[in-house]
Amino acid sequence: MSGEPTDAPRRRGRFITLEGGEGAGKSTQAARIVAALKGLGIPAIATREPGGTAKAEELRAALLAGIVAPLGPAAEALAFSAARVDHLDRKIKPALEEGVWVVCDRFADSTRAYQGALGHLAPQLIRAMENVVVGADRPDLTLMIDLDPEKGLARAAARRGDNSVDRFEGQSTAFHRALRAAFVKIAADEPQRCALIDGARSENDVAAEIWHEIENRLDPREWRRPL
Ligand code: TYD
Repeated sequence: MSGEPTDAPRRRGRFITLEGGEGAGKSTQAARIVAALKGLGIPAIATREPGGTAKAEELRAALLAGIVAPLGPAAEALAFSAARVDHLDRKIKPALEEGVWVVCDRFADSTRAYQGALGHLAPQLIRAMENVVVGADRPDLTLMIDLDPEKGLARAAARRGDNSVDRFEGQSTAFHRALRAAFVKIAADEPQRCALIDGARSENDVAAEIWHEIENRLDPREWRRPL
């Protein structure tokens, strides 16, 4: 006897990310995707970046407090990437290998857009970092929730209920417009991976379009069938 486990091979989970500007409704939609998947009997978790693990959440606190900002966009990109390494190693990859679907609020496209396009980092640097950090663990589907930044920032402020802003919310409207353009460009450049979702509609309408994309592109009902 070899002592090898005799379990049937487990199908790898799918990796879905949500991207977009501030207040686009990503975390609400992430929770709805997880609920819909579980409704089909598919194990699924929601997570977020920066964060998702204890150490990455510590880095998140420093990043959103603006502690790394004075070091420049390259250092910020490295700090976001360091958080991502821990998140991938300790949470995302183990879950996918266990056959769990992972739904992540922000991921590497946020580094491309915020630090890359807006921080004016060389695309080769962003690509090299992404190759090292993410490698083959790229998302199966990225939902780009597109929304007029004025609407998004107003939503984010209403959600907080006060006038406080974090490191990125405090940027100018021009910054947020450029951010929107950066996400739209990523979606246009990688249509196989990315779906551009109109985030200006009601929560239910956005959820319906997202579910349509998931069904068309990832076929969750087929995935559920035993191998
Ligand atoms: P968060 O409060 O989660 O923003 P939102 O609700 O809009 O998702 O804060 C995350 C912030 O960090 C957000 O402003 C985007 C920024 N960010 C980067 O600049 N680079 C990154 O790689 C990631 C993951 C996030």
